Amino acid sequence: MRILLIGDIIGRPGRDVLRKHLPSIKRAESVDLVVANVENAAAGFGLTESVGQEILRAGVDIMTGGNHLWDKRGTETYIDSEPFLARPANYPAGTPGQRFVQHDVGDTRVTVLSLQGRVFMPPMDCPFRCLDELIEKLSKETDVFILDFHAEATSEKQAMGRYADGRVSVVVGTHTHVPTADERILPKGTGFVTDLGMTGPYDSIIGMREDAVMRRFLTSLPSRFEVASGDTRLSGLMVDVDTSSGRALSVKRVHVFDEDKVQ
Ligand SMILES: [Fe+2]
Ligand SMILES: [Fe+2]
Repeated sequence: MRILLIGDIIGRPGRDVLRKHLPSIKRAESVDLVVANVENAAAGFGLTESVGQEILRAGVDIMTGGNHLWDKRGTETYIDSEPFLARPANYPAGTPGQRFVQHDVGDTRVTVLSLQGRVFMPPMDCPFRCLDELIEKLSKETDVFILDFHAEATSEKQAMGRYADGRVSVVVGTHTHVPTADERILPKGTGFVTDLGMTGPYDSIIGMREDAVMRRFLTSLPSRFEVASGDTRLSGLMVDVDTSSGRALSVKRVHVFDEDKVQ
């Protein structure tokens, strides 16, 4: 089974590059399943129903969340009812949204998990123990587990990769918006990369316009962040998984430049 995992989609530029390039990537590479992080998909912060529908129509099968998922006011009902969205499972009990999403690809049952880290992030239940709980609960009915670990620290993401090794087919980091070049298969067969990078405008500071971010660093005053434009790219990881063993067979970074917008 071939799975494409796509890093944080940033606002309109991210959605545009997704719509433009995902169908041809899926066709050319015979992709069976597409998972994408959508915490920044609506104008850089959060997810609305129309944006979620647009992303699913573009060819994404399952969406994953993160700390910014809830940023748009009035979207909790949608987030709670969207069957193709997994929010981080280690938020407190009662948080809106699904803690996992199951999806059948032919005879293979895939479970997509989203967890959030705790280093330089808001307080949260332990993501490691939460993973144990979900694997225990779902392993009998799951052939392939996929984990999007949404975290700031590279060390925490690498620790999660090692912790999940041999129990989860693929662990990918999201949240920093900067792709890392360390894709590999861990010793017990888990495909891994520390961060997928972002699908959005790279002529920016992690997707946002440089002027507002610079003002905050130079003055420490509040400033309103806006999604940047220019040099838009789609960033992710392609993973082949042996569905009988659940082990990753190959991992390949995907980084597509939107030729029209390269400056
Ligand atoms: Fe993000
Ligand atoms: Fe995030």
